[in-house]
Amino acid sequence: MTKKITIAIDGFSSTGKSTIAKQLAQKLGYIYVDTGAMYRAVTLYAMQRRYITDTTFEVEKLIADLPTIQLSFHFNKELGFAEMFLNGKNVEKEIRTMEVSKFVSPVATISQVRKKLVKAQQEMGKNKGIVMDGRDIGTVVFPDAELKLFMTASADKRATRRYKELIDRGDAVNFKEILNNVQERDRIDSTREDSPLTKAKDAIELDNSDMGLKEQFERIMSLVNDKLNKN
Ligand code: DC
Repeated sequence: MTKKITIAIDGFSSTGKSTIAKQLAQKLGYIYVDTGAMYRAVTLYAMQRRYITDTTFEVEKLIADLPTIQLSFHFNKELGFAEMFLNGKNVEKEIRTMEVSKFVSPVATISQVRKKLVKAQQEMGKNKGIVMDGRDIGTVVFPDAELKLFMTASADKRATRRYKELIDRGDAVNFKEILNNVQERDRIDSTREDSPLTKAKDAIELDNSDMGLKEQFERIMSLVNDKLNKN
């Protein structure tokens, strides 16, 4: 049987982690898991019940509901990746709005939320053959992953990418608002107490500010092949 490894991809928001992770998973025939989607789905749940608004955050109510919140991924053949479902409903589009992006970092600071999601993520990766992206994959979820990548890019480059994505989707967005959101999420994600975004000691850092997708993919595939060829 061919050897299967675990690939952990962490980094700041909008560094292109999911694009590269999807491509890798497709090439290798691995499962791809976007853990940010799981934090976004829990955030959407809290927004729908108005536990989180511009002026309130009823953390205790969200914690009390956690056992009933069901998250699952369903592979969409046409899109070539698994879409996020919240309590049986496809929420893939809804979780990508600016509104959810605004509230997701505070929700991701809650330890009880992290505990539930980390457990589910570890379960999904127990047989290896997985590419998972997020903020704490190489540090907390899979500290023993064979390959760990840490992606970075300047905030300006990242906000520009995100702006293009949202405009292409037809959303009415403002560049300054996106840049502020990217910077604010960097701040909250890196300074939270539970599992802050940090580069694992054994992670390979990749600054893709001035790197095209093809170049990144080739660089990472050569790292993957090194690991696969190691006994
Ligand atoms: O990757 P993303 O932008 O969709 O992630 C959304 C938010 O979720 C991000 O601001 C931080 C949080 N997150 C996290 O804390 N841990 C993860 N493993 C993935 C995401």
